Amino acid sequence: MNKFFSVKDVPNIGEIVNEALALKAAPNAHEALGKHKMLGLVFLNPSLRTRMSTQKAALNLGMNVIVMNMDKDGWALETQDGVVMNGTTVEHIREAAAVMGEYCDILGLRSFPKLKDREEDYSEDLFNKFMNFCKVPVVSLESATRHPLQSLTDIITITENWSKPGKPKVVLAWAPHVKALPQAVPNSFSEWMCQAQAEGLIDFTVVHPSGYELAEEFTPGANISNNLTESLADADFVYVKNWSSYKEYGQVYPVSENWMLDNEKLALTNDAKVMHCLPVRRDLELASEILDGPNSLVVKEAGNRVWAAQVVLKRMLEELS
Ligand code: CP
Repeated sequence: MNKFFSVKDVPNIGEIVNEALALKAAPNAHEALGKHKMLGLVFLNPSLRTRMSTQKAALNLGMNVIVMNMDKDGWALETQDGVVMNGTTVEHIREAAAVMGEYCDILGLRSFPKLKDREEDYSEDLFNKFMNFCKVPVVSLESATRHPLQSLTDIITITENWSKPGKPKVVLAWAPHVKALPQAVPNSFSEWMCQAQAEGLIDFTVVHPSGYELAEEFTPGANISNNLTESLADADFVYVKNWSSYKEYGQVYPVSENWMLDNEKLALTNDAKVMHCLPVRRDLELASEILDGPNSLVVKEAGNRVWAAQVVLKRMLEELS
């Protein structure tokens, strides 16, 4: 594996999930693999879970880690070619990425979308340039359109929390928010769940109010609905997440019905486990009574971020050595 950007970088979901769960059972079994290897984690945006879990994963593999908060500590980055840099930007991504590639054997990058120009965000221009210029394997720590470490974590969490016969029904449910949020987490969750469905592991539904359709490329084979009550029936896992509109890009439409998951709505499900990538706004996106109750997986899910990161780094290190 020389990049981890989308589900397309993983040949088989079932296999990588089993490998991650084996690492969870024996976290230090491969600590010689990363000896004298350097991981650089480059953040253009804030993070708690991604930052700490990926560092821990690298340390479990014996790697050294450098964290670079470009948004706070780095030079202002120019990403466009052919501009005279006589404004606020100080360093071009061509040099910055190449230099970081000199220091590190593997790099991670977090780069959120601006939510102004859909074509620009969905081109993943900044991420692609970074991957191209740094010349070392790159792990996405969340890009403009996807959050693959989160999605791999989510399928690991679903797998280890499902012990009944047959396939679980997994529902991605839109939730309210006060801000315009990217589509990266739901896009990514959906493309991973669609692939898991294609491998026969789950049944997958996406439910959202009209106007919040995800781009079709992320939902192949998904059951898509605007009816929350119907979709929650028989659900085994409900993945709660807000996102802004893709169609009217970055807009937040008013929604009159109550879409926040609470215990009353949870009672419609098959005693579903509830997931969220975090951070979550309590009693706006998701009711406290669920977050504090027995059906919430959110903390265990965040814990599993380590094993998702560790299996990806392990696969990259195996190709380096
Ligand atoms: N879920 C997630 O990626 O969390 P952070 O933004 O805190 O890293």
